[in-house]
Amino acid sequence: MNCEVRRRKQLQSVSCRGPSSTQQSVRYSQSCSFSMIPSVQVHPRKMVAAPHSQSRGGGGSTSDNTSNRNRMESQGARLLLDLFLFLLTSVYYVLEACVLTLLPLRFRCDPDRLRGQVALVTGGAGGVGRFLCVKLAQRGTTVVVWDVNAEGIKETVKAVQAAGGKAVGYVCDLSSRASIYETAEKVKKEVGKVDIVVNNAAMLNCKLMLDIEDEKIERTFDVNILAHFWMAKAFLPEMISSQRGHIVTVASVTGILGTYKCSDYSATKFAACGFHEVLYTELQVRPIIPKVEITEKYMSKV
Ligand SMILES: NC(=O)c1ccc[n+]([C@@H]2O[C@H](COP(=O)([O-])OP(=O)(O)OC[C@H]3O[C@@H](n4cnc5c(N)ncnc54)[C@H](O)[C@@H]3O)[C@@H](O)[C@H]2O)c1
Repeated sequence: MNCEVRRRKQLQSVSCRGPSSTQQSVRYSQSCSFSMIPSVQVHPRKMVAAPHSQSRGGGGSTSDNTSNRNRMESQGARLLLDLFLFLLTSVYYVLEACVLTLLPLRFRCDPDRLRGQVALVTGGAGGVGRFLCVKLAQRGTTVVVWDVNAEGIKETVKAVQAAGGKAVGYVCDLSSRASIYETAEKVKKEVGKVDIVVNNAAMLNCKLMLDIEDEKIERTFDVNILAHFWMAKAFLPEMISSQRGHIVTVASVTGILGTYKCSDYSATKFAACGFHEVLYTELQVRPIIPKVEITEKYMSKV
């Protein structure tokens, strides 16, 4: 028992006088019952000291001190302004979200604005994709379903038809650039110009990073993010030239917060969010801003 008390005291003294919290946690994990936790440290962000924060040693001149004080004051003022703007925009977006949630759809937008358009949904053979296909068809669009699952495509086409809509299915492997470009050409010839592209298909392996096979990681990147590039290259130019189009990125909260056993999935969703933001910016800085809409959906759970 004495031994146990001494051990606890040692741990307490380590946690009180340890030079940094990260070092404390390492020692703790090594010396207590959490010894199974590997003592590898991952720094979320490397802290780099700003040049002006370094000690100059030996004391500076009065003008140096004054300019330092001025710089710190202006930095403080900018920080306060940033904080104020952040709070203001947060309040605005929370209020907007509340109003939009409570307002019926017919008051938010023209319910017929999608009528007559062609919407392509990737990964439409099941899950969220099928749900989107039916919803889009109910709003009057012709739905083009892409998936690797031929049977699932047939089911989705049936579901759309049962809802009174029109749908055409294509088997396309989104992990292959050639397959995407080939199928895109077919759709343009057989159905016509695509107005809405919903990048919905995704895959995940649900394993610890070290346990995922290399090929599976590559495939996740091919389907979850690289396909977004090829889809945009295949359909965006026509949307820009016709001044009508909409690209939808189905993202995820794992694209904002890294999630356990989702290293490949999370990384590709982070990438999808980044890709989407850049696409938006690049469309905004064109000499004539094209009437191409960009929508990103963060879903936590369906
Ligand atoms: N379901 C959720 O809880 C949830 C949460 C957050 C985000 N999301 C996102 O919503 C989207 C749809 O999710 P879901 O739950 O419906 O997934 P799902 O697995 O049910 O459907 C994905 C579809 O993509 C298809 N697909 C996979 N690889 C393909 C490939 N190489 N080529 C063509 N098609 C391929 C599959 O056949 C399947 O029909 C995904 O982007 C996902 O990240 C889902």
